[in-house]
Amino acid sequence: MNIIYVKMFGNFNVTIDNEKILFPYNKVQALFCYLIINKECTREKLAGLLWPEEEENIAKKNLRNAIYKIKKAFNLEVLISPRKSTVMINPNIEIKTDIDNFLSNKDDLNTYKGHFLTGFYVKNAETFQTWVIETREHFQQIYTNRLKENISIEKENKNYNKVENYCKMLIKMDEFDEESYRELMKSLKNNNKCNKAVEVYHKLSEILNKELDVEPQPATKKLFNEILNEISLTNCSLKSKEFFFGRYEELKCLEAAYLKFKNEIQAKSILILGEAGIGKTKLKEKFLEGISQNDIFILETSCYPLEKDYILKPWNNIILKLSKIIRTTNISIPLSCENIIASFFPEFSKNYSGNLKLIESNNLKYEIIGNALGDILRIVSSHKKIMLVFEDIQWLDSMSLSLLNSILLSESKNIILICTCRNEYNEDLDKFMTSMNRYNKLNTLKLERLSHIETEDFIKKHYLTTICLKKWQIKYTARQKEIYSF
Ligand SMILES: Nc1ncnc2c1ncn2[C@@H]1O[C@H](COP(=O)(O)OP(=O)(O)OP(=O)(O)O)[C@@H](O)[C@H]1O
Ligand SMILES: [Mg+2]
Repeated sequence: MNIIYVKMFGNFNVTIDNEKILFPYNKVQALFCYLIINKECTREKLAGLLWPEEEENIAKKNLRNAIYKIKKAFNLEVLISPRKSTVMINPNIEIKTDIDNFLSNKDDLNTYKGHFLTGFYVKNAETFQTWVIETREHFQQIYTNRLKENISIEKENKNYNKVENYCKMLIKMDEFDEESYRELMKSLKNNNKCNKAVEVYHKLSEILNKELDVEPQPATKKLFNEILNEISLTNCSLKSKEFFFGRYEELKCLEAAYLKFKNEIQAKSILILGEAGIGKTKLKEKFLEGISQNDIFILETSCYPLEKDYILKPWNNIILKLSKIIRTTNISIPLSCENIIASFFPEFSKNYSGNLKLIESNNLKYEIIGNALGDILRIVSSHKKIMLVFEDIQWLDSMSLSLLNSILLSESKNIILICTCRNEYNEDLDKFMTSMNRYNKLNTLKLERLSHIETEDFIKKHYLTTICLKKWQIKYTARQKEIYSF
């Protein structure tokens, strides 16, 4: 028995026993689709629907021809005319459609893969085209109602992840439907994901601004302000956490790179690049806040402009931290390495007697120190991965840069670098970046200035936080006064 399957949600497709059926021209497909939905129709109506501009006898002749083409495409009597004046789908042939599946199961949310007959257009057949649009809207309405029903059920159950999912499905159907965005923002807020809700608002503003040149509706703006208030209140209650705004994409990028490194998928260092004061340090700190020192050793250091001529100076902090790790975790390192490092960084080892004579030639001396440091980092990182954090790498001396480069390239699986850098030209740094890029070991995260809308939000949010803190201070001062007057 032949199995005919017709797909009308999204792009039209029809198969017989899994073989695709092709119709010779659009009006043949239009006739087939119309009959699949309506099952039966008079010849007169069909002729008027598809050939409105033709004389009646020509239109009917065209219709006969189209019916013939459909039967020929299937090589079956899919259409019959028990009464001469009408045409109908042969009820003795089984035809399955996605529309029937969708309509017969009230809970079905998977069959609607796109709007009814997406992109299908028939020239010179206005009434037919109106029918397509009306039918499209009809099915869309059914699907939308089902999603909305599900949203209200899952909202009752506090199943916020499901609510978010359904809202996103609604937004996919109509990217300008602000009600769906509001529902999504509310759900994210209730699910303690206020930052995500802010992100959704920004996406909506961007789409509305770009496509329609309008702003979000007052109700959406009001909700957005409530969410900002909520964030500020949270910031107030967590006094230790400093005010941080936006940079969601950048944080996501840093977190993704870290997870890949931790899970051994890929190890790529990240250079946070941008003009002075753009927020490089703030972003780096926010990112480090979310990382547990149990999973990884974080070795941080900063570079300063006046130290650019002091070779290997910024490694001092790293050496100190390393020495502490080695002592507390009992990692054993070769005595020769220990002595070489201690000859240059005396804090590294208490055992160092001070009589190791390094070769006088400076470059060779630094090379030996560099190798020893590299060896120690390798040994420590084989116990637990290491993240080196260099602040303001534009001021790192060239010897340190080449040491960093060789460590990162030779031990890239277990050591990565996160660094901040001003976007000023620097020859040594340029060489470092070129070398790292050649081996695909570096991603540059360029921080841009906040957009106009973001700046407005920043001010609002910061203002609310400040007010909140002030209120807290007032209460605190009042309490102090109470205590003292007592
Ligand atoms: N995302 C943010 N949220 C809140 N405050 C921020 C944010 N980004 C930057 N700031 C504030 O702006 C100021 C400058 O930021 P930051 O010190 O991070 O800039 P930078 O790019 O590291 O500058 P430099 O090149 O001078 O080191 C700081 O007071 C910081 O608290
Ligand atoms: Mg900085």
